Amino acid sequence: PVKRIAAPDILARKGKEPIVCLTAYDAPTAEILDAHCDLLLVGDSVGMVVHGLPNTVGVTLEMMILHGQAVMRGARRAMVVVDMPFGSYEGGKEQAYANCARVMKETGAQGVKLESGPTVPETIAYLVQRGIPVMGHVGLRPQAVLTEGSFKAKGRTDDERLRVMAEAEATADAGAFAVVVEGVAESLAREITETIDKPTIGIGASAACDGQILVVPDMLGLFDWTPKFVRRYADLRGDIDRAVATYAQDVRARRFPAEVETYFSKKPVSS
Ligand code: KIV
Ligand code: NA
Repeated sequence: PVKRIAAPDILARKGKEPIVCLTAYDAPTAEILDAHCDLLLVGDSVGMVVHGLPNTVGVTLEMMILHGQAVMRGARRAMVVVDMPFGSYEGGKEQAYANCARVMKETGAQGVKLESGPTVPETIAYLVQRGIPVMGHVGLRPQAVLTEGSFKAKGRTDDERLRVMAEAEATADAGAFAVVVEGVAESLAREITETIDKPTIGIGASAACDGQILVVPDMLGLFDWTPKFVRRYADLRGDIDRAVATYAQDVRARRFPAEVETYFSKKPVSS
């Protein structure tokens, strides 16, 4: 059996080779990504990129568990981390522990991720002390979209830089094994990476981080529009569109299915 990467392995990579991460939501994709990635995140971005929700606020614990189980069936070697959705950990430490423990038990994942707003580091410490590996998430926090009004990059003002830096330090000190840094200025990402003793995993946070993560359907070109920080490594939208257009033409012209795609297509010999 393949030895699976765990939280201490990711932590030990701080300042060494870059940590390769991607999101994953289903078994067959996880199987493909597993050969290349150190860590697969079952992100609550699943709500937006798979279920068509406007933001991540509507994502439920049940959705995260179902997708976490699927990813665990596909990934053998990469560490699998499941995002805790909005409303599942902010209510208090005991609530957070109960929900995180449920995710760990029902999915078999190696860790969870929490967006580390001001009240969350205390919860992270409580969880880590009780055996749950936690990844933090600072900077642009998508679950705060309704109080912030939109998804905005951080680090324009000194006040904002100090706030994000303090959240990153508190998250690292609470015992997180790694910290996602999303949507921040390069100088701030560098400062965080140089200050905290845990690996930083950047998304829209420059090359200064200890690792990188992208949302898989974004980097595979499934959508018309992608944010500035995404590089498209494939044109899945174009590939799917061309494939389906050809299929539709073939069905309408009765070119599909052909004889090779048909069961028992030879005429039976008459008796
Ligand atoms: O939900 C998600 O996909 C994430 C990553 C982008 C870090 O939180
Ligand atoms: Na997320």
